[in-house]
Amino acid sequence: MKVAFFDTHPFERDYFEVQNASHGHQIEYFEPRLTPATASLAVGHTAVCSFANDHLDRDALMRLKDAGVKLVALRSAGFNHVDVGAAREFGIHVVRVPAYSPYAVAEHAVALIMELNRKLHRAYYRVREGNFSLGGLVGFDLHGKTVGVVGTGRIGSAFASIMTGFGCHVVAYDPITNSDLEKRLGVKYVSLLELYSVSDIISLHAPLNPNSHHLIDDAALARMKKGVMLINTGRGALVDTHALIAALKSGHIGFAGLDVYEEEEGIFFQDLSDKVLQDDQLARLLTFPNVFVTAHQGFLTREALTNIAETTLQNITDFEQAKPLINEVKG
Ligand code: NAI
Repeated sequence: MKVAFFDTHPFERDYFEVQNASHGHQIEYFEPRLTPATASLAVGHTAVCSFANDHLDRDALMRLKDAGVKLVALRSAGFNHVDVGAAREFGIHVVRVPAYSPYAVAEHAVALIMELNRKLHRAYYRVREGNFSLGGLVGFDLHGKTVGVVGTGRIGSAFASIMTGFGCHVVAYDPITNSDLEKRLGVKYVSLLELYSVSDIISLHAPLNPNSHHLIDDAALARMKKGVMLINTGRGALVDTHALIAALKSGHIGFAGLDVYEEEEGIFFQDLSDKVLQDDQLARLLTFPNVFVTAHQGFLTREALTNIAETTLQNITDFEQAKPLINEVKG
């Protein structure tokens, strides 16, 4: 099948090439993100392959329909950037990669915790400049601390498991209780308010949807312990950035580790190093010594990239062969 691959990045192309050897799709790689302005590049392709920060609103989908596209294959788990209702209306199927190495994202969340706690970014630059002093680098033992996990699906469960390994007490909030986590790891399900009030570290692993948009707002932040560490590897808009900045300025929030940011579209995944950063909130976040931002790289392990390429290409092959689309997004 002819596939237009949008928002192509060097880090993923090799994985798709290797996996495509057994599928034989004709992939054309485009660098631009998929937006209403670029959708016409898909003319002549039956499928488009789209990434997490593409912009698949009604307008873009209508242009894809006009270009003859029948399938949108997301190479991401999240689908909050797609107007699924409009796709259905235009007769375009949307498939995604619902599961790939959950360890990739869970371990990145742990990396952010370790980084912030032991201040490795500051230590790195200090030592390189011949400054071997330790002032300002005091951290805390993770052992015995309470970690709150919001969303205990695949990634949240893997994260909870790692944190119990550190000797942390894990509390969790999820509308669906995972009894295996309770029995096997001693995870205690609590209300969101209790989670906020008892946790030393809070890590977000819920999907972004109308219920979870700005889940972490002024009121939620005010309920949290002073000095709490907030980690977000879920989706940027789970957190009200304006409220987070205010809570960081007041000192109520002790640390923030962010792999996602609500206005990341058009910024993350791009090299803007020779440009003036236009996003004032992100610019402000980057000034805090107790904030560590990575540009949506939680998924970026060899294993996850292999899983993503395998599942995406299989989704396209299933569509081509008119097989049931087990990973179809129903909305
Ligand atoms: P999953 O579907 O296995 O688990 C999500 C869990 O969140 C479910 O148990 C669900 O019941 C729960 N949930 C739904 N609404 C909730 C709410 N309002 N509050 C608390 N829990 C809620 O998904 P998975 O694979 O664990 O991924 C979680 C999220 O991680 C994805 O939706 C995606 O946004 C994000 N993600 C981030 C990546 C990165 O590179 N930073 C890569 C992959 C996923």
